[in-house]
Amino acid sequence: MRKLVFLLCCVLLASLWGCSSSTSFLYANRDISLDPDDGVFLPGAQWRDMDGELIQAHGGQVQRMPVPDGSGGTVERYVWVGEDKRSGHLGNGVGVYTSEDLYHWDFHGDALRSVPSREALDQDSYFTALYAGYTPEQLDEVFAVLGADKVIERPKMLYNAATGKYVIWFHSDGPTAKNSYYYDIGMAGCAISDSPFGPFQLLGRYRLSQCPEDQIDCYPASKGEARDMNLFQDTDGTGYIVYTSENNKTLYISKLNSEYTYLSADPEEAVYGEDYIRIFPGAMREAPVLIRGDNGRYYLMSSSTTGWASNQARVWSADSIFGAWRNDGNPCVGDGASVTFDTQSTSLFQAENGQWIYYGDRWNGENLMDSRYIWLPVQFEGDRLTIRWQSRWSW
Ligand code: DGJ
Repeated sequence: MRKLVFLLCCVLLASLWGCSSSTSFLYANRDISLDPDDGVFLPGAQWRDMDGELIQAHGGQVQRMPVPDGSGGTVERYVWVGEDKRSGHLGNGVGVYTSEDLYHWDFHGDALRSVPSREALDQDSYFTALYAGYTPEQLDEVFAVLGADKVIERPKMLYNAATGKYVIWFHSDGPTAKNSYYYDIGMAGCAISDSPFGPFQLLGRYRLSQCPEDQIDCYPASKGEARDMNLFQDTDGTGYIVYTSENNKTLYISKLNSEYTYLSADPEEAVYGEDYIRIFPGAMREAPVLIRGDNGRYYLMSSSTTGWASNQARVWSADSIFGAWRNDGNPCVGDGASVTFDTQSTSLFQAENGQWIYYGDRWNGENLMDSRYIWLPVQFEGDRLTIRWQSRWSW
């Protein structure tokens, strides 16, 4: 009798699962590859570059910026940077791609390379040229940050028109002597280059802003942590880094210096409300993306914290970046909205015609290099940012 009840329960659960998977079919992965010549986005399909290889720019960012034109000048292109996950979870270089139309992508290699061994920094001409003049201790530090067994996640790039330099920031992590957990370091790395295609030279990695003494720190054991992160360049050229801190419990926005190579003020001297703010203490958010909409309002989208699994997105918006942030709730509408259409936010960007595009990662924890890209059109309804599923679309 117990066996019969068990079997009936299994049949019931299987039919319920069938229902839910048929509703989720709308936003399921495709077993087909995207052909760039179709001039469409197929969210959930495999996206390949112009050499036919799977695009490796996960946890990334798309934007228009000047790139070398091959004759000593520059030309505007869409630039896509992100984690090259051919090496799996660890040792991800930063892949860089360019496109003229957002459909055809040319790969320019890893602009910031992971370092295969400590010896490579003394012997490989790529690294010896890049780090010429570094002391052995400084090279040890480069290896500690970029070694093949380290975490390099969510890289983002800014172009600084005043210095002519390209700057990458990324989540730098790995185990410590105290803890073998791969996310025990919780710092932000920074690298610089004359070209978006690299080579990028590591400048250092840092702990960032700290909870002021008159506020409640959600994780006082570890000050200034920086994990999932993003960059934002305001219309006046001011750069910001937005990141999750306090053991993923609280998001921070910190102003960068005029070169984008460090914070506007050391964490010990930074003025709360002028150099940085912490927002939504205890809200447990990751994968932050900060933009300024065409209406001048700032929008901050983020995910919850469930590893490689998707969860519900949320948007906050504000009239000024260090002002009061309004909780706008879940920006996603329709089937799949409760799990952000099975994605995690990483970028919001504009096509040349002004169309805003949401770019989320659909992580495949079993095979990270085959994680899929989901790009969807963004609408501003009143002053609310909304995202709806589209199986096939063009900008
Ligand atoms: C969620 C983060 O957003 C990703 O960048 C990555 O760190 C995974 N967690 C690892 O589980």
